[in-house]
Amino acid sequence: MPVDNLSDLIEKITRQLQYFQSLGVEDLNIPRKRERIAPVSQKEELLSQLQQEVSRCQKCPLYLNRKTPVFGEGDINARLMFIGEAPGYWEDMQGRPFVGQAGKLLTDIIKAIGLSREEVYIGNIVKCRPPKNRDPKPEEMESCQYYLHQQIAIIRPDIICALGTFSAQRLLDSNLPISKLRGKFWDYQGIKLMATFHPAFLLRNPYKKRDVWEDMKKIKACLEQGSQ
Ligand code: URA
Ligand code: SF4
Repeated sequence: MPVDNLSDLIEKITRQLQYFQSLGVEDLNIPRKRERIAPVSQKEELLSQLQQEVSRCQKCPLYLNRKTPVFGEGDINARLMFIGEAPGYWEDMQGRPFVGQAGKLLTDIIKAIGLSREEVYIGNIVKCRPPKNRDPKPEEMESCQYYLHQQIAIIRPDIICALGTFSAQRLLDSNLPISKLRGKFWDYQGIKLMATFHPAFLLRNPYKKRDVWEDMKKIKACLEQGSQ
């Protein structure tokens, strides 16, 4: 059979395997759709190219004060991707997302749904630390959004969890407050998106943890449903 490219071939083989499976053939490990989008090595290559672009980026003034750009980290095949706001002091020092106090809480939230940091992907709306941890400006988010969009397009998670107002509003192109955006699934370019409160906000308002737990339970249920 003529094939145009690798993904066509994989598509055809998968259909053949599904046919065998429908005939009762057992022990066939059919690759999940997500894994067929881009082979792992290609994903790795694309992400590392993007990371290099970010490390040289001067598209907005935040590059002037950054020590280390924070690209993001985690499983490049993750089904769940968390997107925060911007690196803070510790993230800028280490070049890793969510490693300060808010990061510890995020790590606990991830564990609470039975996952580890290594099993998800964690990124931010802007890659460089705003001075004195001020809010990122609209034009800085605008300049940086190309990188995040590429990251999401390469990783193609099943679910995105937007952490806090900036992340949720930016990804959903909305002005609604996070209290209105959280708690239900939205669509972000064909990917389910759940918004919830930012862990730094939870540190100041611990009584809101209950709401975040409700949101996390929905994410967990959706992940479990999707893997059946
Ligand atoms: N807050 C964020 O939004 N992102 C980080 O990486 C750390 C703290
Ligand atoms: Fe470039 Fe984004 Fe850093 Fe601005 S915040 S310099 S757009 S990587």
